[in-house]
Amino acid sequence: MKTVWMAGAAFMMTACCGNTSGPAAGSPKTEVTYGAEIALVKPDSVGGATINEALWNRRSWREYSAEPLTLEELSGVLWAAAGENRPGEGRLTAPSALALYPIRVYAFFAEGVYLYDSKAHKLVRVLEGDYRNLAAMQEFAFGAPLNLVYVADPAAYAGKNIPDDKVRCLCGQDAAGYAENVNLYTAGHGLRSITRGSAPEPELLAALGLAQSGCFVALAQTVGK
Ligand SMILES: Cc1cc2nc3c(=O)[nH]c(=O)nc-3n(C[C@H](O)[C@H](O)[C@H](O)COP(=O)(O)O)c2cc1C
Repeated sequence: MKTVWMAGAAFMMTACCGNTSGPAAGSPKTEVTYGAEIALVKPDSVGGATINEALWNRRSWREYSAEPLTLEELSGVLWAAAGENRPGEGRLTAPSALALYPIRVYAFFAEGVYLYDSKAHKLVRVLEGDYRNLAAMQEFAFGAPLNLVYVADPAAYAGKNIPDDKVRCLCGQDAAGYAENVNLYTAGHGLRSITRGSAPEPELLAALGLAQSGCFVALAQTVGK
């Protein structure tokens, strides 16, 4: 009986108090250096809250401090979004319709914009400087340490004979899987996030050099503390 009550109390604490599952004491907290590339660290196979705790904690956050993510947190977030989980097979933590992977993950920091390379588990800089105003249309995102933009490249569907509107829908569904992986990762690691549909798309694509590419913004997300 005592065991049951203790378990119930722990469950209620997690459910009621929100982000109680921060990084384990003593886990490394490495500062990110924003060079031409950011080599991300290998994600741990154990860590964070349980799946059930993460699901109880998940919610959309619209308040963020300016505190940057550590390298370990950033690495975990990108890996959750689109990291390889079966190395050598090119398959990711998130599913993709027909395994075509049309989604590119761009990470917007105060220091620059980076494209995630899931195979090498690294970020590659595409722009220097603060472009967070192009990653969102809501004030809270502009000062948050990380905004992710999921850009879809419909060219991944070339030759598949799938109508354009269906391709757009499938890309959005892929992106939603990436974003929800991140939401669960943040909920399980004492971080905050929100899936967002809004971004100034023409300006954003132009800044990324994708204005004429046929790419479109499938989804966006803010991550922080
Ligand atoms: C596809 C999608 C797009 C969303 N776009 C926005 C957005 O642009 N801005 C925003 O503040 N919230 C956005 N949200 C968050 C929803 O408003 C939020 O999930 C909803 O209010 C339920 O709250 P909860 O996530 O805390 O349970 C979006 C959610 C989804 C799934």
